[in-house]
Amino acid sequence: MSYSQPGRGAQADDVAGPFAGTASVRAGLAAHGYLADDKIAGVVSLAARLGKPLLVEGPAGTGKTQLAKSVAQLAARPLIRLQCYEGIDESKALYEWDYRKQLLWIQAARGDETFSADAVIEDGKGIFDERFLLTRPMLEAIRSPEPAVLLVDEVDRVDAETEALFLEVLAEYQVSVPELGRLTARHLPLVFLTSNGTRDLSEALKRRCLFLYLDYPDPQREREIVAQAVPGLEQALVDRLVALVDTLRRLNLKKPPSVSETIDLARTLHLLGATDLDLTASSLTLNVLLKYRDDVQIADAALARRPWQPRP
Ligand SMILES: Nc1ncnc2c1ncn2[C@@H]1O[C@H](COP(=O)(O)OP(=O)(O)OP(=O)(O)O)[C@@H](O)[C@H]1O
Ligand SMILES: [Mg+2]
Repeated sequence: MSYSQPGRGAQADDVAGPFAGTASVRAGLAAHGYLADDKIAGVVSLAARLGKPLLVEGPAGTGKTQLAKSVAQLAARPLIRLQCYEGIDESKALYEWDYRKQLLWIQAARGDETFSADAVIEDGKGIFDERFLLTRPMLEAIRSPEPAVLLVDEVDRVDAETEALFLEVLAEYQVSVPELGRLTARHLPLVFLTSNGTRDLSEALKRRCLFLYLDYPDPQREREIVAQAVPGLEQALVDRLVALVDTLRRLNLKKPPSVSETIDLARTLHLLGATDLDLTASSLTLNVLLKYRDDVQIADAALARRPWQPRP
């Protein structure tokens, strides 16, 4: 570990292979169960080749987290995940000192003639050593002895101050620890940040990342996702299910159904051995897809007025 060279100086690991282009990323992700379109695959390929973090934004359940997990599988790299939440701080995201071990070290060192309490108090000699540093996901990713994928999940949940702490890692691949100096990356990690867009992220953060908006998949891709997740379901039923979900997403709902809900309903239908979507018994269908009572009522009324059919 170097304390002086900027992390950007770390060797660029060979990511070209599976990330060489749109087609190879798309095929590689598909081999790991993630069905991407050309836009997704193209941006992932660019981010990997440029060594730039990728900020993935979009509605809930559109495959943002899964994309990072599948990229880690494709790259055969460990996934290091920082799950963000309100109130998360440096000590949970970057590092903290292990006070217990530092105290034990001081106690043990007291028996040593060369030990000087004054020196410890003056300049922290001995106690601010890497041995006593507890690494948290961001530091862990850049210190990792092997190249890693860092997922900073739901970054919009952290406050602006904490977000600012992330900038150094995203731009320089390094963490400054006042007592030690700069801890830099041995290998550039592939970095993914996800956001549900609950608040605007800072310009500074956006500038450091490539951006991908992950919307609901088009019906064809969603049919493929469902067929892959629930292989036993009849094709005609997959078509009707995806058409229904597509119709519901066009209504003005508080929480439109996401890919997760489409898959949930597909699993439910398979479990029940259903052969058709029974909208008259809509309590089941709509209650799996929708999460709010108002949304169920809006959908009920809209479907009664406007019959829907699978689109070719
Ligand atoms: N392109 C895809 N290929 C395969 N599976 C997908 C795809 N998109 C979404 N899924 C599936 O949809 C589900 C939801 O995905 P995921 O948890 O990644 O969503 P998310 O965007 O991170 O949601 P949230 O914002 O709620 O965290 C997962 O089961 C995932 O496997
Ligand atoms: Mg997620």
